[in-house]
Amino acid sequence: MAKMASLMTTPRGVAPPPDFESILNALASTVMVISIDDTISYLNNAGEQFFQGSASHLTGQGISSLIPTDSPVLAVLEQVKNNGTAVSEYGLPLETPRIGDHLVNVHASPLPDHPDFVVLAIQERSIAATIDRQLTHRGAARSVSALAAMLAHEVKNPLSGIRGAAQLLEDNASEEDKVLARLIRDETDRIVALVNRMDIFSDGVPVVHQAVNIHQVLGRVRKLGESSFAKHVNFIENYDPSLPSVLGNNDQLVQVFLNLIKNAAEAISEPGGEVVLTTAYKHGVRFAVPGSNSRIHLPLMVSIQDNGEGIPENIQGYMFDAFVTTKPEGSGLGLALVAKIIDDHGGIIELDSRPSKTIFHVMLPMDTSASRKSKKQ
Ligand SMILES: Nc1ncnc2c1ncn2[C@@H]1O[C@H](COP(=O)(O)OP(=O)(O)OP(=O)(O)O)[C@@H](O)[C@H]1O
Ligand SMILES: [Mg+2]
Repeated sequence: MAKMASLMTTPRGVAPPPDFESILNALASTVMVISIDDTISYLNNAGEQFFQGSASHLTGQGISSLIPTDSPVLAVLEQVKNNGTAVSEYGLPLETPRIGDHLVNVHASPLPDHPDFVVLAIQERSIAATIDRQLTHRGAARSVSALAAMLAHEVKNPLSGIRGAAQLLEDNASEEDKVLARLIRDETDRIVALVNRMDIFSDGVPVVHQAVNIHQVLGRVRKLGESSFAKHVNFIENYDPSLPSVLGNNDQLVQVFLNLIKNAAEAISEPGGEVVLTTAYKHGVRFAVPGSNSRIHLPLMVSIQDNGEGIPENIQGYMFDAFVTTKPEGSGLGLALVAKIIDDHGGIIELDSRPSKTIFHVMLPMDTSASRKSKKQ
């Protein structure tokens, strides 16, 4: 506050405010001014970054060089030009070959003193959307925990009784009936195996979280895959070698990436299939924890990308739920397990899928114990 006051006033009166260009350049949103003939007359710094071009190069060009003419974003601009009133639209897709696919909020308004211009502000929605989606995944994780506890109680115990009885029958039965008794035993074994796989979801003993080298985790999973389910896959590693350790549980993180990489390998049926493993450090991205004032910092991002068939649109909304599968032999537990473990780590998982490009981004917390120790010394 004191700083602000000294900026705004001088002993001799009120100081001029900073020039508007500096103010606009300090904003994180794209701000642009479009003239009535659809040429770009101004673009702020955030806009240069968003559209990956310099303002000096882009001003004077037609807006269609940045935004395709059939884009709903341009429809908003047209609406403002035609009606002369401000328009805001939320969650519009903005897809261009130059910058890829984005979901944006758009605010466009006329300039009453300059009727030949419209101001367009564009905000990326990915962070807001991530938090929405994160909630969905957390919900999925919780419902699976409850289901796992119920299965252990209500299904596993009676099943062991059924299995025991079938075994007794098998011992004394005729050859013909032995086959049926064995069938009962085998089927109960199959269900017990499924329920056992669910056990991992129930909130049992708390697991220990410590420093985990995520590149070692990925290396181990890659090795496992190359000797079994991913023999047909060409792996590409795109690692940030200076990445700090994750705060997590090694075995559980192996489970997470094993499931994600197995899904990626299973989505690739043709030769030429590629799975790209990327790690990166993301500065300054914090997520508000819904319902509290705290904010979590998840700077480590691990991405698993494949060029397979893509995830069918009709399951994208609930594929993290248990038993959702499109595979004849699938149990639909892989992603539910991934959601549960990432939730237990305080992390987030995000999805971006279209044919030939499916990416799961996993954002995880960093282990800060090393830096804490070095600060103490
Ligand atoms: N990388 C991917 N590409 C295409 N589809 C995917 C991908 N990852 C997941 N899916 C879809 O999501 C569904 C759910 O995945 P999930 O791992 O939970 O179960 P599953 O792989 O079918 O069975 P399980 O992992 O238990 O063997 C899959 O059946 C598939 O349709
Ligand atoms: Mg799977």
